[in-house]
Amino acid sequence: MDGLRNEKIFPGGFLWGTATSSYQVEGGIENNDWAQAARDGRVPVAGRACDQYNRYEEDFDIAKTLGQNAHRFSIEWARIEPEEGRFNNDEIEHYRKVLIALWDRGLEPFVTLWHFTLPIWFAKMGGFENKKAPFYFSRYCEYVVGRLQGAPLHTCKGAPCKHKDVGRLVRNRGLVKFWITINEPMVYAGQGYVQGVWPPFKKNFIKVWRVVDNLITSHNVAYQKIKKILPTSQIGIAADQVDYHYNRNPISFCQAKFMDRFGNHRFLSHISKFQDFIGVNYYRPIIYYGRLAFEKSDMGWDIYPEGIYNVLMRLKRYRKPIYITENGIADAADAKRAKYIKDHLHWIWQAIHDGCDIRGYFYWSLIDNFEWAHSFAPRFGLVEVNYDTLEREIRQSAYEYKRICESNSLASSI
Ligand code: BGC
Repeated sequence: MDGLRNEKIFPGGFLWGTATSSYQVEGGIENNDWAQAARDGRVPVAGRACDQYNRYEEDFDIAKTLGQNAHRFSIEWARIEPEEGRFNNDEIEHYRKVLIALWDRGLEPFVTLWHFTLPIWFAKMGGFENKKAPFYFSRYCEYVVGRLQGAPLHTCKGAPCKHKDVGRLVRNRGLVKFWITINEPMVYAGQGYVQGVWPPFKKNFIKVWRVVDNLITSHNVAYQKIKKILPTSQIGIAADQVDYHYNRNPISFCQAKFMDRFGNHRFLSHISKFQDFIGVNYYRPIIYYGRLAFEKSDMGWDIYPEGIYNVLMRLKRYRKPIYITENGIADAADAKRAKYIKDHLHWIWQAIHDGCDIRGYFYWSLIDNFEWAHSFAPRFGLVEVNYDTLEREIRQSAYEYKRICESNSLASSI
């Protein structure tokens, strides 16, 4: 173990990747609640975003050259079900091509079924406030998983088909093994129903409970439906985890304890029978007393790598494999990103050493993208996007991450 300790080697088969979400990168999505809110002047316009809908192959080429072996992306519900009950199979075929493009490059897909944005028809019915939300959401999930699993794989024109291996994989374990039903349910509920800064712009503590309960049921029902179609699939959520700090002041103690229980663990404990892994999104700590002198990201968020160790150790109680499904920094100058990644990976490695079953790490994000209410200003990408020309340029920190991915260790990067 001492050898491992010095070289900080990660377990065999560890997944190294990056993450994105549909509305943040694809472009051209006009029929969801965010696009409607943009037309109403309440949030920034995403417009063509990074045009990844058309440029996914170029982006996946970059991920491959950067030594990665996995990739997390999301499917846009509004594309698949533009009107209630009317499903668009052409969009399924689009995402099938996206998945095959990942397989062609040796990137294991992690597919998020819902990353914050709702089809307009669903938002109009009250979204996740509606008690029928679990029915609508799980029906959508069932459709996507069923289609991507069941429909025949395309054949290459002209023999031999270069996707024979993918075909075998699809038969054995499905084109997608790892499904994330819901991204950061508590962030969604907090931003949309407590802070009121994201659609549906409410500040209503009663509704927030209802929304969270409906999201829990939505996940649990979707989990069971997906498992019926694909028993070997691995299903979880991407859970936002914050490292809350308090001191002897009883108010700070109560705040931190409440937020840890409600924000970090309520959802996870209510889906514990229906999850095969835990996806962890960790960005920062929240300190409920004074201000500590942490370095900050361009978002003004405190940088506290040890926090990821703290949240991981508290997740051991669920006895599930863990994937870090997001961790990243807005850093336009690319001055802090490489250190941010290495420091967080150091603490992740330490958590593995101390008994956490962590199996992968996805940096947020592969490319700069639409950062919700902050528009395009924050730069989270390993790859810079020029929003005038849509050109991609690999940042220096990406090469440092590449060394880690390729050596499966921190050794060559210290
Ligand atoms: C979300 C992403 C977001 C990132 C940075 C996470 O909360 O899943 O959509 O861009 O954090 O703010």
